Amino acid sequence: MGYDDILAQVADLKLFTPGPTYVSRELMAVAAKMPNFSHRDEEIIVRFKPIYANLRKMAEVDDSYNVILMPGSGSTAMESSIVSLVGDDEKVLSISMGSFGDMYHDMTIVNRKNSEKLSFAPGQGIDLNALEDKIKEMESNGEKPSVVTFTHNETSTGVQVDVVAICNVIKKYGAIALVDAVSAFGATNTGIQDNVAMYSTATQKSMALDAGFGLAFVSEEALERAKYLKENKKCYPPSTLDLTKHAATAKGFMTGTTPNCTLINALFLQTDAIVNTEGVQARYDRHRAMKEMTHDWIDTLNNGCKLFPSKDVASSSVTGLQMPPGTKMQDFGPLKTKLRADKFVMSTGLPPMNKALEAKGEGVIMRIPHMGDMTKEMLQDYLDALKKYLLEM
Ligand SMILES: Cc1ncc(COP(=O)(O)O)c(C=O)c1O
Repeated sequence: MGYDDILAQVADLKLFTPGPTYVSRELMAVAAKMPNFSHRDEEIIVRFKPIYANLRKMAEVDDSYNVILMPGSGSTAMESSIVSLVGDDEKVLSISMGSFGDMYHDMTIVNRKNSEKLSFAPGQGIDLNALEDKIKEMESNGEKPSVVTFTHNETSTGVQVDVVAICNVIKKYGAIALVDAVSAFGATNTGIQDNVAMYSTATQKSMALDAGFGLAFVSEEALERAKYLKENKKCYPPSTLDLTKHAATAKGFMTGTTPNCTLINALFLQTDAIVNTEGVQARYDRHRAMKEMTHDWIDTLNNGCKLFPSKDVASSSVTGLQMPPGTKMQDFGPLKTKLRADKFVMSTGLPPMNKALEAKGEGVIMRIPHMGDMTKEMLQDYLDALKKYLLEM
């Protein structure tokens, strides 16, 4: 069987899922044509030096932040932050606005850290006064947190928060911030510099590449902390998640374990395209414009659907759309089928939250991603099809 016969077995679909997202086949074809290389040869350095420089420009950080690529995915970097930067005798506060905030908190629990959770209702951002009150309460109980985790962009609800404002509260109480930015990085300004100890992300969302790396920006102070905790037996990171190990190889422009070399070739091309062709701020502006386009489109529906989060915290990379009251998860079935016939893959809300909304008789949610290399034209095509089918529901 030739390649064409094999290719005929798979569908060519347009992904409107909030990761993995659209990846340019053109870019991947060029990446695949680039020579193979060994990750222990200087060829990886030829690729990683410009990749690091471009990633720093996207993250708006200087050399006091280490860029670390870990084979794995966003969760790999997030879990590495927990096992390496939280001492077993320390207290963690995990702020959650939805499923991914819960996931970061769960990582603290399964890794046996002493952790508490502060939850905000789905669709809401992080209330700074409530955060401050929670830290004060923990302090008065003799359990002041040394580490606070939060999500920059909560993909399950489409809520994006102000990293700098939240970190200002965290820093006021002497704690460090660990940030999950899996669906934020590449879509919006980061706020990392002098604020965040470790900012974790991945390649398969707003970076518009395939999955395969956890990507982290880690301050020098955070690395010192990781070394101190490990040397003084205050934490025992498993070797594949040990931040000190990853940082040591990253400083030499390599990865600790064997990476996906084609993805490195793609990162080499893609980070250059983001920084030198599109421009970092232009990329972030495009994301904001697509968000506004989606909000304006919601206003044209007039069928009871509404923006799930409040506008001031609505995400640049994914919009949460709430169906009319009484809608159930099963109502998405026909919508999915119709969109799929047009070669679109849609994304509903995550089941735990939709089950809860359903139980309260409130409309369930779906998510409309507008991230990565998606163009306004691609988004408009999807919104046109989605509107047609939503109005038939
Ligand atoms: C906000 C957020 N955090 C973490 C993750 C998990 O990332 P990964 O699948 O790259 O491990 C996701 C994935 O959707 C996410 O959206």
